[in-house]
Amino acid sequence: MAKSNPISLCYFSIPFFVLSVFFSASLAAPTESLYTTFLHCLTQNNTDPTISNIVFSQTNTSFSIVLKNYIRNARFNTTSTTKPLLIVTPKQPSHVQSTVICAKQVNIQIKIRSGGHDYEGISYVNQSPFIILDMFNLRTINVDIKNEVAYVQGGATLGEVYYRIYEKSKVHGFPAGVCPTVGVGGHFSGGGYGTMLRKYGLSVDNIIDAEIVDVKGRLLNRKSMGEDLFWAILGGGGASFGVVLSYTVKLVAVPETVTVFRIEKTLEQNATDLVVQWQQVAPTTDNRLFMRLLLQPITSKVVKGTKTIRASVVAMFLGRAEELVGILGKQFPLLGLKKTDCIELSWINSVIWYNDADDFNKGAKPESLLDRNLNSAAFGKRKSDYVQKAISKDDLEGIWKKMIELGKVGFVFNPYGGKMAEIPADATPFPHRAGNLFKIQFSVNWNDPAPNATVGFLNQAKVLYSYMTPYVSKNPRSAYINYRDLDIGINSFGKNSYEEGEVYGTKYFNNNFDRLVKIKTAVDPDNFFRNEQSIPVLPGKA
Ligand SMILES: Cc1cc2nc3c(=O)[nH]c(=O)nc-3n(C[C@H](O)[C@H](O)[C@H](O)COP(=O)(O)OP(=O)(O)OC[C@H]3O[C@@H](n4cnc5c(N)ncnc54)[C@H](O)[C@@H]3O)c2cc1C
Ligand SMILES: *[C@@H]1O[C@H](CO)[C@@H](O)[C@H](O)[C@H]1NC(C)=O
Ligand SMILES: *[C@@H]1O[C@H](CO)[C@@H](O)[C@H](O)[C@H]1NC(C)=O
Ligand SMILES: *[C@@H]1O[C@H](CO)[C@@H](O)[C@H](O)[C@H]1NC(C)=O
Ligand SMILES: *[C@@H]1O[C@H](CO)[C@@H](O)[C@H](O)[C@H]1NC(C)=O
Ligand SMILES: *[C@@H]1O[C@H](CO)[C@@H](O)[C@H](O)[C@H]1NC(C)=O
Repeated sequence: MAKSNPISLCYFSIPFFVLSVFFSASLAAPTESLYTTFLHCLTQNNTDPTISNIVFSQTNTSFSIVLKNYIRNARFNTTSTTKPLLIVTPKQPSHVQSTVICAKQVNIQIKIRSGGHDYEGISYVNQSPFIILDMFNLRTINVDIKNEVAYVQGGATLGEVYYRIYEKSKVHGFPAGVCPTVGVGGHFSGGGYGTMLRKYGLSVDNIIDAEIVDVKGRLLNRKSMGEDLFWAILGGGGASFGVVLSYTVKLVAVPETVTVFRIEKTLEQNATDLVVQWQQVAPTTDNRLFMRLLLQPITSKVVKGTKTIRASVVAMFLGRAEELVGILGKQFPLLGLKKTDCIELSWINSVIWYNDADDFNKGAKPESLLDRNLNSAAFGKRKSDYVQKAISKDDLEGIWKKMIELGKVGFVFNPYGGKMAEIPADATPFPHRAGNLFKIQFSVNWNDPAPNATVGFLNQAKVLYSYMTPYVSKNPRSAYINYRDLDIGINSFGKNSYEEGEVYGTKYFNNNFDRLVKIKTAVDPDNFFRNEQSIPVLPGKA
């Protein structure tokens, strides 16, 4: 998938992290005895006589396959990466309830994994002994066109969601991410955005109900969990509050025909002027139009032996080509969009095209969205920033110079505005609304497994992040939780430090952090559901 596009969001992976040093056998009971006591608890706590079949111990021949299936970053596919003591693969909601109850009883930490796309692998890697609660079997999707809603379990992928909607209607869709293999469980928990962001907002802006298994093993819905907890799981980040079993979403209207295009210009073709104009137009244009901007250092074809920057505008418009050419002819003349640059297609085909135009050109069918593409990943690293004031032409030129000097890290600029600016910053935990022109994703992928490659590329990303400081949001320097970045702060293990949590928490959630902490303290005071960047409990309450 998308192997040809070095900045594609879908074919990717991460490196580094020498977690194994933290993994001391003395911290945990030996695996087999944990397996035995855990299984004993499960069979006691659940009436399903086949429940033992959901547990894989390290000695099981399938263990490694099950583990690797949803590793989505090769940085965490090494022999030195810490492995879970057990992988638990629930097949029904009561299995999740018993897993939570028994993990608490045997005193072992849970990491919850749905699609496994966490950019830092924290759904399946840990610094101390742990088990994985793997949601891939819980992927029921029920689409109800009459009421324009869908029930979607956490282990479903976005591609499956899009496909099941398409099966029932050609004029409905759902606003969520671009990559079909991303899991609902993590994606919706952290906000979730894609090409309909400016028209319909985030995934969480279109969710009306949810089911969660809480720390006591209770299965709760919106009514029984209450509005505070429901608010928290609409963007407060996965795995701080419980296990999300399902979300019920409101479908949105899409036209029968939409339009996509991709236009590329290098510095020799005045890409800098294009980017200056893009900053004015992309966040303010018609809400139906999403124009992502990719910026990459590449080898120049004009001046031999030098590098240049390529700017690619990749767009999806909920309307016809003729109207789009009219709009952009007026607003974005430097783009020079012509009707022949545009492709008119169905919304579901736009999903395939936007994920990978090569796949689309080869005739990929909507069924391809069901491909989970197991056990495949490149190495990768992502970071994020928010831009609130357009970057000047001079400053852009400085940035290009730095990117070329570093060599490999690219940017994805995702325009906001439209619906994003209309939703209050405290409507959901996701705070980055009005006032943000666009989000930056720092993006680098590689295939070289050598440790020095990993060290080098991670460092490039850090240097570029530091260089960008003057041009991005301040106090806090905001970030998107679904672009998980452990460089911006972590909660050290075994501790529940509010002070540490506040560092990354205010960057991800700005002023919503305090409410998230209060809710966390109320629903999980002992901090059972935790990870490197989970919401901490209030000091003195743990
Ligand atoms: C290739 C790629 C493309 C992407 N494209 C986009 C995009 O277009 N738009 C966008 O917004 N983001 C995008 N992302 C980021 C993506 O939204 C996040 O990585 C998201 O958290 C992944 O969800 P997951 O279930 O696949 O991941 P996982 O790694 O399984 O989970 C991520 C986090 O959520 C927790 N979690 C998972 N399931 C549950 C659950 N059921 N209950 C409670 N907690 C849970 C995990 O413990 C972990 O902390 C992309 C990521 C990748 C790798
Ligand atoms: C499982 O444990 C929970 C919590 O102790 C308890 O409420 C529930 O009744 C148990 N279930 C069964 C089937 O024993
Ligand atoms: C591995 O674990 C699975 C799930 O519990 C079980 O069905 C299978 O029999 C086990 N395989 C072996 C070889 O023990
Ligand atoms: C770039 O801009 C300059 C100055 O405006 C102009 O003369 C030149 O023709 C442009 N080049 C291209 C390839 O558009
Ligand atoms: C992990 O590495 C093995 C080779 O050691 C490879 O076969 C597999 O495809 C890799 N999986 C991922 C997810 O990187
Ligand atoms: C890593 O080290 C090898 C051998 O010393 C070298 O050939 C390679 O260029 C290095 N890679 C990077 C990315 O620095």
